[in-house]
Amino acid sequence: MQNVIQVTDDLYYLGGNDRRLALFESAFPIPRGVSYNSYLLTDEKTVLFDTVDSAVSEIFFENLESALGGRKLDYLIVHHMEPDHSATFLRVVETYPDVMVITNQKVAMMLKNYFPFSGKNVRLVKEGDSLNVGKRNICFVFAPMVHWPEVMMSFVPEDGVLFSADAFGTFGALGGSIFADELPFERDFLDDARRYYFNIVGKYGVQVQSVLKKAAPLSVKIICPLHGPVWRTGESIDWYLKKYDIWSKYEPEERGAVLFYASVYGHTQNAAEILGAALAKRGVPVKLYDVSVTHVSVLLSEAFRYSHLIFASTTYNNGVFIAMEQLLSDLRAHNFQNRSYALVENGSWSPQAGSLMEKNISEWKNMKKIGETVTVTSSVKEETRKKIEDLAAAIAEDYKK
Ligand code: FEO
Repeated sequence: MQNVIQVTDDLYYLGGNDRRLALFESAFPIPRGVSYNSYLLTDEKTVLFDTVDSAVSEIFFENLESALGGRKLDYLIVHHMEPDHSATFLRVVETYPDVMVITNQKVAMMLKNYFPFSGKNVRLVKEGDSLNVGKRNICFVFAPMVHWPEVMMSFVPEDGVLFSADAFGTFGALGGSIFADELPFERDFLDDARRYYFNIVGKYGVQVQSVLKKAAPLSVKIICPLHGPVWRTGESIDWYLKKYDIWSKYEPEERGAVLFYASVYGHTQNAAEILGAALAKRGVPVKLYDVSVTHVSVLLSEAFRYSHLIFASTTYNNGVFIAMEQLLSDLRAHNFQNRSYALVENGSWSPQAGSLMEKNISEWKNMKKIGETVTVTSSVKEETRKKIEDLAAAIAEDYKK
């Protein structure tokens, strides 16, 4: 049975939720599920904004048929070709054979690569083009690499509605209200929204900044993303735009330390715990993560969140412990930058995790090392404790600047 939700005059939410998928993009755990959003505008013409993942295709087609109320579908706008939004594209054009597909050249090429699609009934748009659908116009804003190269957004100036593709989305299924202003978003969604942002588009801060600049002069009253809740109050939109501005500038969202440790027999963990306590004693808020236990998508998000990072790793196969290596590799791949960091290493016969981590991080942009690398030789001794205290003092001094 249909579950269509009205967003504003003539605009309807047709999406659905998947709470069974374990890994989004086969990479990111989503224990709280995810929503796939699609919207229908019923002006003098009917306009479908994107489709959905195949996981929610049945409810989507029931919603679409119901929201159309016997009218034909005139336009399908494809903002983003990734299959979580276009897997049901072909079924839409087969179900509504007269529909005109409105998209850009890159999407059109991808549609032909993904589907046995003839390319018939496609109208290509360029940046700045608009489409009149009756009382309203739909203006197209290109957003390359947010998150694929073909991505575009659209804006309806008469209602102030921005269809933002993946931007401003989040992991986490919807249930009950679909509106951010009716949800405890900061409590229930912000961690997932941050993890979604940094893992999905975090690498492309420059491109996100470019889109934010394009959006600034628009009078945006409602944001309809492809995942997560709809944003419809000025206050909440300003709050979320500010988050995106901070995130895409690679600035820390919070001042504080996050300490990532890799420990095989507990001694590196011991050093990490002593350092954590020494930081707290000096007034530095700190969080500890065992990189072997917490998923790297969470670690990446937490690294982006805080101003000061500490990496503590045992030496393993003459290198950095594998889970720490993965974290560093992921941070590097996401253009991680602009932070202060400190290092702790452990090794029973040839400690070298510290120098290897430092070599890696020194190639990242604007990373400042604090203090000396603390070397633990198998286990923490009294002289090691003293070095850990010295490192905590150096971090605290930098934190308080
Ligand atoms: Fe939600 Fe880039 O797809």
